[in-house]
Amino acid sequence: MSLSKTFSGMLLRTPKNLCFRRTFSVVNVMKNRETTHFGSNTVPKEEKQKLVGDVFSAIASKYDLMNDVMSLGVHRMWKSHFISKLDAGKRPNSTEPLHFIDVAGGSGDIAFGLLDHAEQKFNDTESTMHIVDINPDMLKEGEKRAMAQGKYYNDPRVTFLVQNGETLEDIPSNSKDVYTISFGIRNFTDIQAGLNTAYRVLKPGGIFFCLEFSKIHNPVINAAYQQWSKLLPIMGVLVANEHASYQYLVESIQRFPEQEEFKSMIETAGFKSVGYEDLTFGTCAIHWGIKV
Ligand SMILES: C[S@@+](CC[C@H](N)C(=O)[O-])C[C@H]1O[C@@H](n2cnc3c(N)ncnc32)[C@H](O)[C@@H]1O
Repeated sequence: MSLSKTFSGMLLRTPKNLCFRRTFSVVNVMKNRETTHFGSNTVPKEEKQKLVGDVFSAIASKYDLMNDVMSLGVHRMWKSHFISKLDAGKRPNSTEPLHFIDVAGGSGDIAFGLLDHAEQKFNDTESTMHIVDINPDMLKEGEKRAMAQGKYYNDPRVTFLVQNGETLEDIPSNSKDVYTISFGIRNFTDIQAGLNTAYRVLKPGGIFFCLEFSKIHNPVINAAYQQWSKLLPIMGVLVANEHASYQYLVESIQRFPEQEEFKSMIETAGFKSVGYEDLTFGTCAIHWGIKV
């Protein structure tokens, strides 16, 4: 890709809170730096995290609306299926509570859902949860929700932690039973590093469980979906006055590896019994693996 193409793309598409001068300096130094993609743009590797952070800060307060627009509300069903399929919780005959970590979990949707499931199905009120996100604004949204629902706020079992999921430097190795990540991993600069870290923090026997947008293999349904995707940035403007963030989200979905490739990456991290399930024709997929 030529630098001038990259440059004009960035000017058109970067989130509105990025200033022109900053974008310009990114382009000037790019020649000598390792690069990665940010949506369909090429950016220096060390810049991506900040750019992704800007996207989620811009939409944090309208996060549910964004998800409803992007998935026509179906994300609620996907998340609910993800939680029941994992079916985690301390079993009545077990003496040890489970230690969960939900990475990129800012909204709290998955973390609270998992704890509710463990309590309702297994009467488990002991298992612990780390909700980790790189973006403090997204974590604040999760905390606000916990406060509003009167559950999991100021709860000694639940820890909110600002941290990069690629490294999780404050999470000890072999310390977690269940690692979940929902619609988060495609935003990582280095996805393989994130998977390797998931493997590191899980105990032997622990499970990795991931929900992410994926690839539709039926060409007719895929063509319709691609047309729908083109409308999303426009809908972003209509419902949330946000074009660039929605454009990034669409492009990040298109860039994410397809099911078999992502499965291989999970295996490369060291996981066994790796598999996946397509949801809604492959619009998204649940991926899993076990650390042995
Ligand atoms: C689409 S939201 C998903 C939130 C939640 N898991 C859900 O399913 O509703 C993506 C989240 O990934 C977080 N994120 C992006 N890059 C990250 C990273 N490197 N480490 C941790 N979190 C990250 C964002 O801040 C954002 O909260």
